[in-house]
Amino acid sequence: MAVPPARKPRHLAVIMDGNGRWAERRHRPRVIGHRAGVRAVQACLEFCLAEGIRSLTLFAFSSENWNRPADEVGALMKLFLRMLDSEVGELHRRGARIGFIGDRAGFPEAIRLRMNAAEQLTAGNDAICVNIAAGYGGRWDIAQAARALAVDVAAGRLDPAAIDEAAVASRLSLSGQAEPDLFIRTGGDLRISNFLLWQLAYTELWFTETLWPDLDQATLRQALDDFASRERRFGLVSSQLTEVPR
Ligand code: IPE
Ligand code: IPE
Ligand code: MG
Repeated sequence: MAVPPARKPRHLAVIMDGNGRWAERRHRPRVIGHRAGVRAVQACLEFCLAEGIRSLTLFAFSSENWNRPADEVGALMKLFLRMLDSEVGELHRRGARIGFIGDRAGFPEAIRLRMNAAEQLTAGNDAICVNIAAGYGGRWDIAQAARALAVDVAAGRLDPAAIDEAAVASRLSLSGQAEPDLFIRTGGDLRISNFLLWQLAYTELWFTETLWPDLDQATLRQALDDFASRERRFGLVSSQLTEVPR
């Protein structure tokens, strides 16, 4: 069943979880699951392009993931580097604008340079925004916005009395994009895990047991169909909803 255009998410935010378990079920090292997850990223992007979704935010590596065993973190860095070399060109050809959100300080320089290069290369694209959350934490995001506000106050550019939700929002990651309409988490766990804490305030949440490397178009279709059937009230009552902004 086709989803009517008005009920499609503009912005999809995804926690790509379950790679390690996918590998463990096959008695393989966890890194094999991370590698298998790359195909699911490609499938997800194809789906979003076909559906006309304007922004896709993918949680690739959290601020807490730095605390995993060193060999897993090392394997993820290697994979990340390889992906930056192999996937950015194709994303550019597809018209994707790539952005990285998160604290880049912990990443090796080779990765940081490629992040910057990918952002510069694709800055003029507008088919879709692909935001990759790497070294990202929702609390980090709010803290860095608070720091930016403090810097502006200290410099005399901002009156503390003028700090409102819009002032905070404008300093957060993804500030130029619509807030996520739909959140998907694979892997069966029912939590946010320090993803976009502020930005998910009114996002519709959808969870699936499917492990990330097993993600397919049918699962994504199910998520979109479910989204289309939901009533987003934004604190109002149903009878007020005819003029609610989507
Ligand atoms: C998500 O998969 C990818 C990263 C966090 C980097 P996991 O590695 O968390 O896989 P599970 O949840 O242990 O199966
Ligand atoms: C969330 O998954 C982070 C990413 C998918 C990148 P985790 O596997 O790190 O989350 P927890 O530890 O189960 O909450
Ligand atoms: Mg996990």
